Amino acid sequence: MQVVVTTDQEAAGEYAADIVQRRAEEGALHVLGVATGSSPLPVYEALERRALAAVRAARAFALDEYVGLPPGHPESYRSVIAREVTDRLGLDPARVEVPDGSVEGLRTAGARYEELIAAAGGVDVQILGIGTTGHIGFNEPTSSLASRTRVKTLTEQTRRDNARFFDSPDDVPRHCVTQGLGTILDAREIVLVAIGSRKAAAVAAAVEGPVTAMCPASVLQLHPRVTVVVDEAAAAELRLRAYYDEVFAHRPDWQV
Ligand code: GLP
Repeated sequence: MQVVVTTDQEAAGEYAADIVQRRAEEGALHVLGVATGSSPLPVYEALERRALAAVRAARAFALDEYVGLPPGHPESYRSVIAREVTDRLGLDPARVEVPDGSVEGLRTAGARYEELIAAAGGVDVQILGIGTTGHIGFNEPTSSLASRTRVKTLTEQTRRDNARFFDSPDDVPRHCVTQGLGTILDAREIVLVAIGSRKAAAVAAAVEGPVTAMCPASVLQLHPRVTVVVDEAAAAELRLRAYYDEVFAHRPDWQV
């Protein structure tokens, strides 16, 4: 796992965008995995400025969706991804997928989503945020480290964290459909972005703690190609901070 500490969120976005751009230039970016939340927004803004043809031509898969929001609800992840990713990056909306969070489709939503990802050839670069509970996607603590796309129940903490997007905390759905940890690990490369002091404990647990379902993001330690891009505040609880800076300062030319 490579940890890159940047001065601020804009620099974090630029660094993550560098990785996406490098893969695009290598001809290895056909399917982009995209996340909602505020942390990845600087990445999308940086990619929007770069207007890369390979990104515009890519397919995209979102990580997760709330269950039961009415179609077109502005805070459904389908709407958020359309606004923040599809529009900004100039993707073809027909090539952007979000799990089906409709109540009628729930029984098959997970399996259908897994099939779609597999048929697209798998995810080349997965962009991730991290929740204060250590979740990635919506894989809350005690999620199976081998899980596939399925329905999950949100923790109270996540519902509180996400209440800012809804009129009332009670409006935050209790359930979601999320790619599993096993699904996320299938991506060829993963870039996790975390911004701000609220994420410092989760970042430290994910990077330096034991691999445990109690911190779902810690499963990323099992993936061979992960970059964790954080700002100073999110890096505050990392014990090996000096080492990460040294690795970064002496990174080989070919490495982004
Ligand atoms: C939601 C999403 C996650 C995201 C998390 C953190 O819960 N399901 O994918 O990482 O929010 O969001 P933020 O970056 O806004 O703190």
